[in-house]
Amino acid sequence: MKDKHFNKRVSLSLLNLNKKMSQKTLILGACGQIGTELTLALRALYGEEQIVASDIRKGEEDLVAGGPFEILDATNLHALEEVIMHYEIDTVYLMAAMLSATAEKFPMKAWDLNMNSLFNVLNLAKEKKINRVFWPSSIAVFGPNTAKENTPQHSIMEPSTVYGMSKLAGEGWCQYYHKQYGLDVRSIRYPGLISWKTQPGGGTTDYAVDIFHKALSEGEYQSFLKAETALPMMYMEDAIRATIEIMESASHALKKGQAYNLSAMSFSPEKLALEIQSHIPEFKISYAPDFRQNIADSWPSSVNDTEAQKDWDWAPKFNLELMVKEMLAHLKNE
Ligand code: SER
Repeated sequence: MKDKHFNKRVSLSLLNLNKKMSQKTLILGACGQIGTELTLALRALYGEEQIVASDIRKGEEDLVAGGPFEILDATNLHALEEVIMHYEIDTVYLMAAMLSATAEKFPMKAWDLNMNSLFNVLNLAKEKKINRVFWPSSIAVFGPNTAKENTPQHSIMEPSTVYGMSKLAGEGWCQYYHKQYGLDVRSIRYPGLISWKTQPGGGTTDYAVDIFHKALSEGEYQSFLKAETALPMMYMEDAIRATIEIMESASHALKKGQAYNLSAMSFSPEKLALEIQSHIPEFKISYAPDFRQNIADSWPSSVNDTEAQKDWDWAPKFNLELMVKEMLAHLKNE
C-alpha cells in the first residue's frame, strides 16, 4: 500500500534526479555499516558513475567494483581535496567515524577521526569546493542527566562518552558553519541501526545485529547488555531512506545545520529475543554485561522525532516485528 507521502516523494525524487544527473556525490566511509547500503542506494538512484565511494580500505567486492572507488583517509585534507576536485564533487556524505565502544578504548584517535574529518569537509564547503554536506550525529549526544523516555529534540545534552562528546561538538560546528557561512549541511541523530548486508563495528547497539547471526548459526546468544536495557533502534532500510530524504528535501521548514532526532522503534535485548523466539522457538539468550552497559545506561531508551516529522515529513516503515522478520529472511538466504 502506498503511504500518504509516496507521490510527493516520487515527484521530489524526479526533480532532484534531473538536477543531480550532472552532479557527483562522494561518500566517505563507504565500506562501513551505513556507507555500504547508502552507496548502493545512491548508485541505484543516480547511476553508478555519479557516486564516488571511498574508504580507508577496500570493502565488499560489489561495492568496490560497482562504480568509482577511491582509497581515502577522511582526515587527510590534501587527499580529500584532490578527490573532490578530480571528480568535480558537489555533495559529500561523511560516514567515516569511530563508534562508541571503540572510542572509549582509543579516545584521542576517536576525537581525531571524528572531528578532523568533519572540519576537512566543512572547510572545503566553506571554500565552495562542495555545495552540500551530510554528517551523521547520534543518540549518543544525550547523557545520563537527560530524560530517558521520548527524549525531545532540545534537551539536556551532557554526553558521558568520547563518541557522544565528538558528536555533540560536531553538531555545534555544523550549526556554526551554517549560520556563519551559509553552509548547506544536513544531519540526523541516528538510533542504533540494524542491518543484514554489513555488520556494524565498535558500537554499543551492535548486539542487535550480532544476535541474528548467532540465533541462526548457534541457536543462542550472550548479550553484552542487560535484559531490560532499552535503546532507540531503526532498520537500515528506514535509515537510508531518511538520509536520502533529508538530503533531497526542498522543504522550507527544514533546519539546515540541525541534527534531527529520528525514531522508529525501541527495544531491550529481552524484547528482541522474544520476537526472535516467535520465529525460532528454541533460541536462547543469556546476559553478561560488560563496559558497554555503562554507555547504554547513559543513552535515552526512546527519542521524540516530532520535528523531523513536521519539518521534512519523516515517517518510519519498520517496527520491531517487521524488522525481525526481514532480518531473519535475508540472513537465512546468505
Ligand atoms: N550505534 C552507535 C553506537 O552504538 C550509536 O550511534 O555507537
